[in-house]
Amino acid sequence: MEHRVTVKPLGNEVACREGQALLEALREAGIGVESVCGGRGTCGKCRIRVLSGDAGSPTADELERLRRERAGDGLRLACQVVPRGDLTIFIPASSLTGNQRLQLESGLGSRDFDPAVRAYDLEVEIPGEPGDAGSDLLRLREALLRAGPLAEPRAIDIEALRALPGTLREEEGSVRAVLRGEAILGIIPRKRTPLGLAVDLGSTKIALFLYDLESGEMLSAHGLLNPQIPYGEDIVTRIQQALEGKDGRLQALAAEGITEGLSAMLAETGREKADVFEAVVVGNTAMHHLFLGLPVEQLARSPYLPATDQPHEVAARDLGLRLNPSAVVYLPPPIAGYVGSDHLAAVYAARMEERTGPCLLLDIGTNTEVALQVEGRVRCCSCASGPAFEGGGLSCGMRASEGAVEAVLLDPDTGEPELSVIGGTPPRGICGSGVLSALAALLRSGTADPGGRLLEGMPGVERGTEGLFFPLTQDTDEGTSLAVTQGDIREIQKAKGAMRAGIDALLAEEGLDPGDLEEVIMAGAFGTYVDPADALAIALLPPVPLRIITQVGNAAGSGARSMLLSIKARREAEALAERIEYLELSAYPRLGPLFAADMYLTEEAVAAAKGRFALGRKEG
Ligand code: FES
Repeated sequence: MEHRVTVKPLGNEVACREGQALLEALREAGIGVESVCGGRGTCGKCRIRVLSGDAGSPTADELERLRRERAGDGLRLACQVVPRGDLTIFIPASSLTGNQRLQLESGLGSRDFDPAVRAYDLEVEIPGEPGDAGSDLLRLREALLRAGPLAEPRAIDIEALRALPGTLREEEGSVRAVLRGEAILGIIPRKRTPLGLAVDLGSTKIALFLYDLESGEMLSAHGLLNPQIPYGEDIVTRIQQALEGKDGRLQALAAEGITEGLSAMLAETGREKADVFEAVVVGNTAMHHLFLGLPVEQLARSPYLPATDQPHEVAARDLGLRLNPSAVVYLPPPIAGYVGSDHLAAVYAARMEERTGPCLLLDIGTNTEVALQVEGRVRCCSCASGPAFEGGGLSCGMRASEGAVEAVLLDPDTGEPELSVIGGTPPRGICGSGVLSALAALLRSGTADPGGRLLEGMPGVERGTEGLFFPLTQDTDEGTSLAVTQGDIREIQKAKGAMRAGIDALLAEEGLDPGDLEEVIMAGAFGTYVDPADALAIALLPPVPLRIITQVGNAAGSGARSMLLSIKARREAEALAERIEYLELSAYPRLGPLFAADMYLTEEAVAAAKGRFALGRKEG
């Protein structure tokens, strides 16, 4: 007899034989779960959470390893669980091995394959006799008409025309014509295929995906930090820099970042940049404008209007992108001044409009975009959550990369912290999900109160020159200790207050309570790696059942990939952009009191503060 195990957030379904340990079943299905002790139940690395189904009771050893206080959340060790029926489990990112983590980055697949760029095999006659007439272009057009792709190929890019005579003769007329619609973009040798690039141009990180546009296969994925970062961590600072005359430099840096990422992927795959004929770029509105060289002054002033809300197609060479010289860049439309085409791509990839019940999508970062779908209507807003979720502005903060503490548990007896570190290396700093996890642990153990105050006299709490702090370790690589300070907690409170206020405003506008939500989708790097139980524990999310929370990875990147692979996807996303309604939070009359209430760390405290401010569901 077999039991079916649904594995979130990967979305797989795994068969587990009667009597078989869950860890073994996951391994057999190719899901890499950390298991330093080899399944003996002593390392505590194979933590999973049972969301539903009969997994039996935790063993005494298991309870000991899991520090008892977390067992109530369904936390278990996969090596000790022997399913007794069908299960749904959640594997936190900290328990997944490296390769498996990457899969989270591509959780949402594309729907269609009808790319804008297509290649046609041609036999073009090359006359060599004196008296032969007609140009190379004429004979190329005739060959295209014979191949039948178009009634009349209309235009040829000037760069493609420049390369035409040479390529035709080098390949003795056996070539492939690369067309985009009715325009000829290039002529390439028969053995090569056209490539396309999908880009999520984030303020912090640039994610790139290289595709073969003939097979639809993804050849490589790559991420790098946005080289604009030295000009300011957040969008507002970068807009300021642009207004001070650095706009040209910021444009060039964005193009250089994309080109650098592409070069790494081409080197890895042995392909050539001359074969990259199209790119689809999504990004927040400031990134979109800076990349296109559009003015950004109006983004900095109320009512924060974008220069365009239309899709655009621009020659890659005009943007400084080093692809094929004839390549075209497609940019989907931004939605508003602070809700960009990246959010459109995420809403599209998550198929929000098709969800049956009320559904919330959160793309969490320096700027958190929130979308709420109710009965096929999508309304969105943008929350200035600041850099704390990405480790910025924290005393020991760092980005979520190797050496970052990403999860913290406290021993209920001694208060000793147990750290989970990305890459299993000595800890170098704490990323956003690590601080959030630490805060949840401090709250659960009573070391911090619902107002976010560390309580002097509680085990582990110390006082320094800057006030109270809770040390996590004394010996990092650099010889400094890691700690969560009172200031760090305040930064997380501000970030979470801004994001939660946006969620609450959207719910109130629709006349909904959190209990009406049927699904909460968390996207973006932070949204992927944060433990949803921690997010609920500190009231970052409204009170919803753990089982309705899904983590989907880089949804904006998934949307960009869909649009690279499909013209239909572009038209659907463009139509979606016209239907999405935008709520400007800065003009929302109850934002201040909502933000103040949402800074509290428990639902009870949030509700009490809302009661004091007479904030609730919008009447009527
Ligand atoms: Fe070590 Fe499960 S593999 S505790």
